[in-house]
Amino acid sequence: ASKRIPLVAGNWKMNFDHLEATYFVQKLAWLLRDAHFDFRSVEVALFPSFTSLRSVQVLVEADKLRIRYGAQSVSVTNQGAFTGDISADMIAHLGCSYVIIGHSERRKYHPEDDANIVDQVRAVLAAGMQPILCVGESFEERRQGIELDFAVGQVHDVTRDLNEDEAAKLIIAYEPVWAIGTGMVATPESAQDAAQAIRADMRSTFGADVADTVRILYGGSVSSKNAVELIGEPDVDGFLIGGAALDADELARICRLT
Ligand code: G3P
Repeated sequence: ASKRIPLVAGNWKMNFDHLEATYFVQKLAWLLRDAHFDFRSVEVALFPSFTSLRSVQVLVEADKLRIRYGAQSVSVTNQGAFTGDISADMIAHLGCSYVIIGHSERRKYHPEDDANIVDQVRAVLAAGMQPILCVGESFEERRQGIELDFAVGQVHDVTRDLNEDEAAKLIIAYEPVWAIGTGMVATPESAQDAAQAIRADMRSTFGADVADTVRILYGGSVSSKNAVELIGEPDVDGFLIGGAALDADELARICRLT
């Protein structure tokens, strides 16, 4: 429906060591290796733990795989006395295309507020990668009927500090918190409503070109059973997948349905 290339992103969260990650990438590449699947019309990206990124890079480069990959978070500073942190440059030097930013699990378990999230976005852009900014309401906001305002507000809190060029490189993942890992997927209509509202906000801030370029993913209990209906919505440009991305057969099915 649009000229945006859909993105299927598998967020492994804290699963798989480097041996399991290597095995998974090989299996997924093998499952998608035929004339019926075209990596030019559906982008596929995996988000391993930091400890697996080097192994994934070596494999992808050696076998010239079309699978992309990225990190699940990033430090806001680029080097220095920050024990345990990983910089955007370090991630970029491993061949990463993307970094997930502001996932609800990061917002919940780590001190990641809007200011920190803006800094992460900037760090990722400065290192030449694309940020995947996660937003989405909890059950409480949905109960109050303010879910659209909430999700749009979360996007706006970040984008208001960006210029047009920076905003054009964003990918946004709408992930209602109540749908994450629960099996309760949003209806295609409500995924569309949120994606449309986010795009409308981008349009009013940055104009039509940016709004029409930015990909908006849906995340939350995506599976091969609901992917077709969701991707049928005009403003849904792909998926950010947790549980179903831990099963190569299921992830390959979703890639083919997208
Ligand atoms: O980042 C993806 C994630 O939060 C969705 O998880 O398990 O509901 O697909 P899941």
